[in-house]
Amino acid sequence: MEIITEPSVLGERAREWMRAGRSVGFAPTMGSLHAGHASLMALARERTEVVVASVFVNPTQFGPGEDLDAYPRDLEHDVALAERVGVDVLFAPRPEAMYAPEAATWVEVPRLARHLCGASRPTHFRGVCTVVSKLFLLVRPTLAVFGQKDWQQLAIIRRMNADLGFGVEIVGAPIVREADGLALSSRNVRLTPAERTEAVGISRGLALAGELVQRGERDAECIVAEVRARYAADMPSGVVDYLECVDPATIEPVATIAGPVLFAAAVKFSAVRLIDNRYVDMPVASR
Ligand code: PAF
Repeated sequence: MEIITEPSVLGERAREWMRAGRSVGFAPTMGSLHAGHASLMALARERTEVVVASVFVNPTQFGPGEDLDAYPRDLEHDVALAERVGVDVLFAPRPEAMYAPEAATWVEVPRLARHLCGASRPTHFRGVCTVVSKLFLLVRPTLAVFGQKDWQQLAIIRRMNADLGFGVEIVGAPIVREADGLALSSRNVRLTPAERTEAVGISRGLALAGELVQRGERDAECIVAEVRARYAADMPSGVVDYLECVDPATIEPVATIAGPVLFAAAVKFSAVRLIDNRYVDMPVASR
């Protein structure tokens, strides 16, 4: 596996792959890699001839007071994991190599960033879109894989990719979970043991939302209220940032469930904010 830190070197490699007509799969990450990231890379490995992964804690997607400095970093571990999964090139640039001091351009998809994480982190998705655009321009991937845990991010990247004509096949990879259901996240390592025990409540509450839909409940507000009550009981030290039922494509709130919906939650435990979601379709008979 080749480790590249300079954008110009990655750009040169990408031009070589393009000239040789090789398909390129890309898994962008912020490092501190776990089995969820490995699944993104493995998916790219199955589908393309060259696999590129990036490890870059992108400063522009963190707002003031967020956990940019505390975000876990472990490049040695990341290199070993990427190598194990069969990544060909690991791109790990320094922030100064990605953003010139005079940089003044943003890429934004405001319509899809109004709710969920976009509401509580107003500048987050423009940071994500800007860095993913820059990475797409460097890697020139045939396909790029993003985790469904960041469902809103995936929806926004799909829109941006279509609107700007990047021509990348965007692939959504299923959420990878711990045995008890907690969605894997690089931030999980920062939970205290007691918070870790409570945090499983996030996915259990979302599973309850799915069960209520299967049992015939169609009023999203009733379901959200029931899940909130469960969250209060199961996660006394968790502060719910949001818990919403939205349209999976537009990320707009849904009041009455008449088709597939997404229940999405963000819960904060002292210094750690965790997100998770559950895609719920209605039973065929009631559609
Ligand atoms: O999902 C992430 O880890 C990040 O938002 C991404 C896509 C790598 C952009 O920094």
